[in-house]
Amino acid sequence: MGRSMMLNRLSPQAPDALLALIRLHAADPREHKIDLGVGVYRTEEGATPVFAAIKTAEQQLIDTQDSKSYLGPEGDTGFVNVLMPYIFGADPTMGGRIAGMQTPGGTGAVRLALALAQKAGMKRVHLGVPSWPNHAQIIADLGLELVTFDHANPDGSANLDAVLAAISGAGAQGAVLLHACCHNPTGIDYTPDQWDAIADAFAASGTFPIIDSAYQGLGRGLAEDAAGMRAVLAKVPEAFIAYSCDKNFGQYRDRVGAFYILGNGQDELDTAFSNANALARACWSMPPDHGGAAVRIILSDPGMAKTWLAELDDMRARMRAVRDALAAAGRAGRIDLTPLAAQNGLFAVLPVTKDEVATLREDHAIYMAASGRINIAGLTMANLPRFIAALTAVAG
Ligand SMILES: Cc1ncc(COP(=O)(O)O)c(C=O)c1O
Repeated sequence: MGRSMMLNRLSPQAPDALLALIRLHAADPREHKIDLGVGVYRTEEGATPVFAAIKTAEQQLIDTQDSKSYLGPEGDTGFVNVLMPYIFGADPTMGGRIAGMQTPGGTGAVRLALALAQKAGMKRVHLGVPSWPNHAQIIADLGLELVTFDHANPDGSANLDAVLAAISGAGAQGAVLLHACCHNPTGIDYTPDQWDAIADAFAASGTFPIIDSAYQGLGRGLAEDAAGMRAVLAKVPEAFIAYSCDKNFGQYRDRVGAFYILGNGQDELDTAFSNANALARACWSMPPDHGGAAVRIILSDPGMAKTWLAELDDMRARMRAVRDALAAAGRAGRIDLTPLAAQNGLFAVLPVTKDEVATLREDHAIYMAASGRINIAGLTMANLPRFIAALTAVAG
């Protein structure tokens, strides 16, 4: 056999840093170790359980599903539609101007949004940084230009001037990608007044909004977490929305997402979705069915929907309690913890150095990303005092 002609042209890629952290944490025998790395919700006991509502829906699905024949690239349209009132509110199609399709997770929805915008002539994506690392990866993979601006101010508030400048200056071939809520990784969301200013800037400039909603319900409440996005949609003619059910239904590995388009009426939506379907077909053909079907079953049954909402309320309340306890501690060494109370969702970024992150890991068995991002849900009322003490010792 001849020498390899293709594979030897590949160079190794950096492994996912968080996956490496999972391995280090798993291998650590210290019983008091704290994992603040991985981005999944955890209970006070450290578990990431399947929601009770999902368990019931899955059982119903097993009992009643009579075929696994192909659907289309749009997936389970029942799932896509029944979710809409939760995302878009009382007039979920905004008078027939919003429609959607199912995607493999929020990642699939972000990919599809960016690919479709590119097909429609978008060349540049303006993104507040830091952001979810996969945003930049997808943008690079599509060959789009990434233009960054600062998402946050050093005092823990959102940098409104930066996002307004990005929106005003993006031009006809630019789009601005925003997190709807529970910003990953900073936890810093725009206030309602800031969202109003953002909506006005989109309206005045004609810049195309792409809104990534991966954590609805994990911040302030289902409607509260969607309010900023809705304020934008109310003022613009067109937008893309990438949505994930992987956190707020705890479906992570089942890959449950949806992609919605706000457009100027049925003809425009039909044409846009014919393109989105073609892109999806060339990428994943059609989304996995199971998790979306479970969400459809839950949201079609008021009793099951109530169970889900109560589970989501519990998650949110627990993360709020951890944030409040961190903020109540005031300072840990030079680090001011008080802004954490006003921030939202699973994540926060602490201003620690890479060396301090290493010391926290080596000397205190506390695992966090080198960027200083922590998973709020990795903290519990039991391990919080130790975390604050370690942080105070290291960041003194
Ligand atoms: C901002 C943001 N968008 C999208 C996603 C994608 O979520 P999913 O697991 O549904 O693909 C994530 C997940 O971490 C995220 O943080």
